[in-house]
Amino acid sequence: MRILLIGSGGREHALAVAISASPLCEALFVAPGNPGTARCGMNVAVDVADHGAVVALGRRERIDLVVIGPEAPLVAGLVDDLAAAGIRAFGPTRAAARLEGSKAFTKELAREFGIPTAAFARFTAIEPALAYLREHGAPIVIKADGLAAGKGVVVAATAGEAKAAVRDMLGGSLGAAGTEIVIEECLLGEEASFFALCDGTHAVPLGTAQDHKRAFDGDRGPNTGGMGAYSPAGLLTPDMEAAIMDRIVRPTLAGMRGRGTPFAGILYAGLMITAEGPKLIEYNVRFGDPEAQVILPRLRTDILAAMVAACDGVLDEVAISWTDHAALAVVMATKGYPGPVGTGSPIGGIEAAEAGDGVVVYQASTALRDGTLVANGGRVLAVTTLAPSLGEAAARAYEAVGRIDWPEGFYRTDIGRRALANG
Ligand code: AMP
Ligand code: GLY
Repeated sequence: MRILLIGSGGREHALAVAISASPLCEALFVAPGNPGTARCGMNVAVDVADHGAVVALGRRERIDLVVIGPEAPLVAGLVDDLAAAGIRAFGPTRAAARLEGSKAFTKELAREFGIPTAAFARFTAIEPALAYLREHGAPIVIKADGLAAGKGVVVAATAGEAKAAVRDMLGGSLGAAGTEIVIEECLLGEEASFFALCDGTHAVPLGTAQDHKRAFDGDRGPNTGGMGAYSPAGLLTPDMEAAIMDRIVRPTLAGMRGRGTPFAGILYAGLMITAEGPKLIEYNVRFGDPEAQVILPRLRTDILAAMVAACDGVLDEVAISWTDHAALAVVMATKGYPGPVGTGSPIGGIEAAEAGDGVVVYQASTALRDGTLVANGGRVLAVTTLAPSLGEAAARAYEAVGRIDWPEGFYRTDIGRRALANG
C-alpha cells in the first residue's frame, strides 16, 4: 500500500516508524513531516490546511490510505474532503471529530448516554455563568468549548480565579473557541489516558499511558503539550480497562452511530480515576503526543493492518497484542517552552543515544540547516525506550538523554517517578 501520513510532530515520527515497518507498506509519504520522518519515508512540503493540495498529492502519488496525526485537520474535515475525492483516510469525519472539537458536544453526549463524567453546565453569557459559580463555589473547572491549543481549561482553586476565567473566555480572550464555555465539577483522583481503535461500530483497546503535562519536575510550572509519558499506566488494572470499555467507550460509539455520525479512528479518553471509578475528562480524536511514542513501540499487532481493518469496519476480526515490556519517553524541549522560544540551536548525540538498548529518539520540531540538525520550536525530541520494567525503561531513557548534546534544551528528570514510587 502507498501511505500518506499527515503531520510533523513526534507523534508522526512514531507513526512513520511503525507504518514503514509494516509489510503492507510499499511507500510512505509524510506531509509536511520533519527530519525524523524523512528517515522512514519521503517528506512532501504541502500546506495540510489546503485540502485541495492534499487531495492533489493523494492522486499524484496514487495513495491507498491517508493517516492523519493531529486534530486540526480532522476537525477541519480533511477525512470528508478526501473521501469525497475517492481517497480512503484513517480518522474521524468532521462530524465525529466534534468529540474533540466541542467540549459541550461531548458533555451532552455523556449526559444522554449515561457516561460517567463531571457534572456541568453551558454558558454563552457572563452573568448567568457568574451566578452558577456563586451557587457551586470553588474548586471548579472552566473550559472553552472549542479547540484552544491547550489554553482552554482553567482548574480554578478559588472563586476569584473562576470568575476571572469566565470573564476572560466569554470576553473573547480565546476568540471563537471561547464564545461558549462549559463549567464543571472539579474531579479528584489520578489521571490516565486510554486509547481505543474504532471502526464506527466496534472498538478495541490499543493501550494505556500516563502523560506529564506540567513543564517542570514535581508537576510544577505551566501546562504543556506533554513533557513525557509511559505505557502501560499501571493505575488502569484489567478490570478497570473493562469498565472503561463498557461504561465509556462503547456507549460513546453507540451514541455516535445512533446519531448518524459514526466514529472511526483513534479515540483517546482522558480519564480521572476517582473514588467512584473512572470518569471521562475529555476526548481527543487522535493519538496523543507523546503518548503515541510509548503506545506504538509496545504493539505486536501491525498498526497499519489494524488501521485498514478500522477503515473497512471489521475490527471485530482483529486481536491487538502487546509486548509486556514498558515504554517511557522523556521529552526534550527548547528552554522557554511553553512560552516563545528561539530556533536554530544545533543538536548532537542522537546516534550515540540510539546506540543504547531499546532506545529510539523521535523528532518533533527539528530542522536540517546545512546538514546540521537544529531545534525548530518548543518540543523537539522524545527520547524513548522499551525495557522489561518501567524502572529499567526510565534508567535507560535518562542515560540516553545524557548522550544528547543540546545545551539549549531542557527536560523533566522525574518522568515515571511517581508510578515507580507507588510500586
Ligand atoms: P485539557 O486541556 O482539556 O486536556 O485539560 C487539561 C487538564 O485539566 C486535564 O488534564 C486535567 O488535569 C484538568 N481537568 C480538566 N477537567 C477537569 C475536571 N473536571 N476536574 C479536574 N481536573 C480537570
Ligand atoms: N499529550 C496530550 C495530548 O496529546 O493531547
